[in-house]
Amino acid sequence: MATYKFQVNGRATSAESWDPAQPLLYVLRNQLGLHGPKFGCGLSQCGACTVLLDGKATRSCVTPVRAAEGRSVTTLEGLGTPQGPDPVQAAFIAEQAAQCGYCTNGMIMAAKSFLGQNPKPTLEQVKQGLAGNLCRCGTHTRVLRAVMRAARA
Ligand code: FES
Ligand code: FES
Repeated sequence: MATYKFQVNGRATSAESWDPAQPLLYVLRNQLGLHGPKFGCGLSQCGACTVLLDGKATRSCVTPVRAAEGRSVTTLEGLGTPQGPDPVQAAFIAEQAAQCGYCTNGMIMAAKSFLGQNPKPTLEQVKQGLAGNLCRCGTHTRVLRAVMRAARA
């Protein structure tokens, strides 16, 4: 069994796996108990599993654990706290940008990465930036409002 060492939410972490191709998502959820990232499609098509890998939005369902070796992983849990949410989290709360919430992790993590690259986007740019994140409940309009609110914060 191999041991993989990386940072998770600012802490040095190690995880063991028989399979270097094991999805990072499984390690985060099943070994490290981080349930922010969700299993949606498992095929890099919905965005529910999104984490930040060295600050960039990454689909952890198709990212092998070996790819995280020596790198920095941030999950939803690492963005903020209930008392001190990240501005993106606060904006999603303010706009009530969720119904079932299954996609919300991916929306917030994608928005965080996107706003890091484009701090003052237009609405059209936000639409393009989050186009790959799917919501079955139809909260896209509220999500867009939340991301625009976060950009103004
Ligand atoms: S679960 Fe990873 S993109 Fe859908
Ligand atoms: S809020 Fe239910 S899938 Fe988006």
